[in-house]
Amino acid sequence: MKNVLVIHYSQSGQLTEIAQNIAKPLVENPELNVSFHTISPVKPYPFPWNKDTFFDVFPESFLQIPTELNPIPNEILDKKYDLILFSYQVWYLTPSIPANSFLKSSQAKKLLENTPVVTIIACRNMWALAQEKVKKLLKANNADLKGNLAFIDRAGNLISVVTIVDWMFSGIKKKYLGIFPLPGVSQKDINEADKFGKIINESLSQNNFENLQEKFVENNGVYVSPYLVNVDKKGNFIFSKWSKFISKRKNTRSSWLKVFYVYLFIAIWVISPIVYILHVLTYPLTFQKRKKAIKYYQSV
Ligand SMILES: Cc1cc2nc3c(=O)[nH]c(=O)nc-3n(C[C@H](O)[C@H](O)[C@H](O)COP(=O)(O)O)c2cc1C
Repeated sequence: MKNVLVIHYSQSGQLTEIAQNIAKPLVENPELNVSFHTISPVKPYPFPWNKDTFFDVFPESFLQIPTELNPIPNEILDKKYDLILFSYQVWYLTPSIPANSFLKSSQAKKLLENTPVVTIIACRNMWALAQEKVKKLLKANNADLKGNLAFIDRAGNLISVVTIVDWMFSGIKKKYLGIFPLPGVSQKDINEADKFGKIINESLSQNNFENLQEKFVENNGVYVSPYLVNVDKKGNFIFSKWSKFISKRKNTRSSWLKVFYVYLFIAIWVISPIVYILHVLTYPLTFQKRKKAIKYYQSV
C-alpha cells in the first residue's frame, strides 16, 4: 500500500475542486491510501475580499512572511508518503500566505523531507516566478519536485483582471456585466483535471516519475506565456521595492497601500499594454529567448 497526501487551501473552492479531481483516479486505486490536508490559518483570510483587505495582504504576501497555521493532525503527520500533491494559489506573484506559511513550517519539513512532490497551481495567469519561490522552499525542505501543473484563466490578460476582481470582491463566479467570460479556471479544465491524476497513477504504479512532467506538458498541463513571464519578472522587481517600503511604514501603512493601489492600476492598464506592444514589435527578434523561457518554465 502506497501513501499519497493531497495538501490544499482554497477560498472559493476552485483549487480544492481541481486538487480533488486530480486525486480522483488515485482515490479509486485500491493500492493507494490517499489522505487530504487543508491548510488552515489561525486567523482566516476574508472571502470575499474588499479593497482594504485585498491590498493589506500585499506586503506580507510578497515578502513571504508566514502567518500562524493550525497544527497538522498527527494521523497525517506521522505517515511517510510516497507522493505529496501540493496545491497552491498565487497572491501577488508569490505563493499565497497560507501556502507559503505551510512550506516554511517545521511540520512541512517533516512531511516533505525526501518525498516526491507534484505542485498544482491554480491562479489568474501569472505563476512562473511564484513557482521559482516554491521550488526554493521545497529544496530547503529536501523535497523532491517531480512535476508541476498550472491551471490558469485562459481569457486575455486584461479581461481576466476585470473578471477576477469582480469574483474576488463579490465571492461569486459570474459573468461580469453579463458580457464578460466567467472568471478563473474554466469548468472544463477543472472537470478534466482527472486526466493528470491518471498520469500520476501510472507513474506511481511504475515507481517512475522520470517522464511525468513531459506527460503533463504533452497534455497541456503547463501553459507558459513568455509575455506573462516578462510581466511577472518586471512585477517582481517593482513589488520588491513597494513591499519593503510599505512594510516599514507602521503609522502610514494604509495611506501607502492606497498609493500602491493607484500605482497597480496604472501598471496594469498603462504599463502592461505598452510591454505587450513592445513584446509584439520585437516578436521576430526574440524567438530563441521565448523558446528558452517556455522550455525552462515547463520543466521542474
Ligand atoms: C490577494 C490576491 C492576490 C492575487 N494575486 C495573483 C497574482 O499575482 N497572479 C495570479 O495569477 N493570480 C493572483 N490571484 C488569484 C489567485 O491566484 C486565485 O486564482 C484566486 O484567489 C482563487 O483562488 P482560491 O482557490 O483560493 O479561491 C490573487 C488573488 C488574491 C486573493
